[in-house]
Amino acid sequence: MAILIDGKATAVRLNQESQRIVVALKDKFGVAPALAVVLVGQDPASQVYVRNKILQAEQAGIRSIEKRFDANLDTDALMEVIEGLNDDSAINGILVQLPLPAHIDAPKIIAGIAAHKDVDGFHITNTGRLMSGEGRPLMPCTPQGCVILAKEHLGNNLSGKHAVVLGRSNIVGKPLAIMLLQEHCTVTIAHSRTADLEGVCRSADMLFVAVGRPQMVKGSWIKPGATVIDVGINRISVGEHSSRLVGDVDFDSALEVAGAITPVPGGVGPMTIACLLRNTLVAACDQHDIDGREVGL
Ligand code: GUN
Repeated sequence: MAILIDGKATAVRLNQESQRIVVALKDKFGVAPALAVVLVGQDPASQVYVRNKILQAEQAGIRSIEKRFDANLDTDALMEVIEGLNDDSAINGILVQLPLPAHIDAPKIIAGIAAHKDVDGFHITNTGRLMSGEGRPLMPCTPQGCVILAKEHLGNNLSGKHAVVLGRSNIVGKPLAIMLLQEHCTVTIAHSRTADLEGVCRSADMLFVAVGRPQMVKGSWIKPGATVIDVGINRISVGEHSSRLVGDVDFDSALEVAGAITPVPGGVGPMTIACLLRNTLVAACDQHDIDGREVGL
């Protein structure tokens, strides 16, 4: 029976740490970190995510500014909003909630965010820095959360382990693979076209799953004792009138085989916002030329 990796508890701890860092930033340097969250349209899941981001920022003492717009806002108008936030020295982090409505040029908007305020870590300057290992990138939040949880369970040292990342998105799979490489893992990126996908997954010491397909990875795909980090959040119907959240891993069968596994909900999910808040503090320090270590970062 696998150990459960409690992402919620780790996120609470990280958020408490962020709260202490905010106090130190204010006391020592007179800096009050602020995050701007931009939401276009009425997507229900995005509304929930944005509400949680704002709520948790406030709880950590980070000022948050919410900018909401109708779905019919166009690319140029959104770009003007972003430019205004870029130019506002009181704003340290800018997050544009994705997905944007289809008529908006999302890559152009992401490229328009000042790289030093890009707390999502999606700007090409930050992805380039992550890839090359040069400079100090703001790194994507969900992959950061995955690495923290794996390290917490495996004792901070992932060196030499075979990590299989199932999924190759720009938001999770690709940056996660690079971060694991920096942790000295041997990394395989697997995806829907991978030959013998089950066998590849079964060769993993650590299996990270981010495919967006409910309960796809079965217990038989997992090496006994492996660490399984499930990034999926899928709502499935149960009977006619109710639904529940499940991951990309079939939790019940995986629990029998894995050494440790993240639950859904309560695994990777809460870590994403915790890492977003941390990124906001990293950005605030950089923008004020503060060495993060002076405030406990
Ligand atoms: N939509 C789903 N995940 C994310 C994320 O990490 N950041 C943003 N901005 N939007 C998302």
